[in-house]
Amino acid sequence: MLCAALFPAGASFATDTGDVARGRYLIAIGGCNDCHTPGYAQQGEKIPEAARLTGAGLGFSGPWGVSYPTNLRLAAAQTSEDEWQSRARRNGLPPMPWSALQAMSRDDLAAIYRYLRALGPAGEAAPAALAPGQAIPTPHFVFVPQPPTTTKTSSR
Ligand code: HEC
Repeated sequence: MLCAALFPAGASFATDTGDVARGRYLIAIGGCNDCHTPGYAQQGEKIPEAARLTGAGLGFSGPWGVSYPTNLRLAAAQTSEDEWQSRARRNGLPPMPWSALQAMSRDDLAAIYRYLRALGPAGEAAPAALAPGQAIPTPHFVFVPQPPTTTKTSSR
């Protein structure tokens, strides 16, 4: 089923089937859809694969300013594999788990890249990150530590 959905007849990536399947697996176990697919954290598998990883305009606001999950399909479509490898290994803004990508092997990152290329470009680029203090023109989560809402009863 997946093959039928992901590999329409005549698709040029047919020879990459192994890598593409591995990339799909890595994306699933890495929880990447939770942020990079709009609505996925709420609806999970109900979001069809063809609509996944298109980035989000729902920002994450914190001391770093505001970050937006990149449209990974556009990024892969516009980037060579070598360039993508270094973009994936850089450090950027939270809450992207950069250390998870840095811990991946080149082969794993290549498999993810090939999966993203197989999905093909879709959607629009996510908004650019905002510096701290800038007005925020999109919906956003606020990552600010809060004090406890109950009084501790344990001994101190
Ligand atoms: C908790 C939310 C979250 C999760 C989970 C997450 N990301 Fe991200 N990701 C982001 C945000 C936000 C950015 C933009 C960061 C910035 O602006 O520096 C980003 C950026 C990226 C980039 C940089 C894209 C580019 O072209 O510059 C890559 C690649 C990426 N994510 C891949 C992944 C992969 C693969 C996974 C799963 C292993 C993953 N992300 C999981 C939030 C997330």
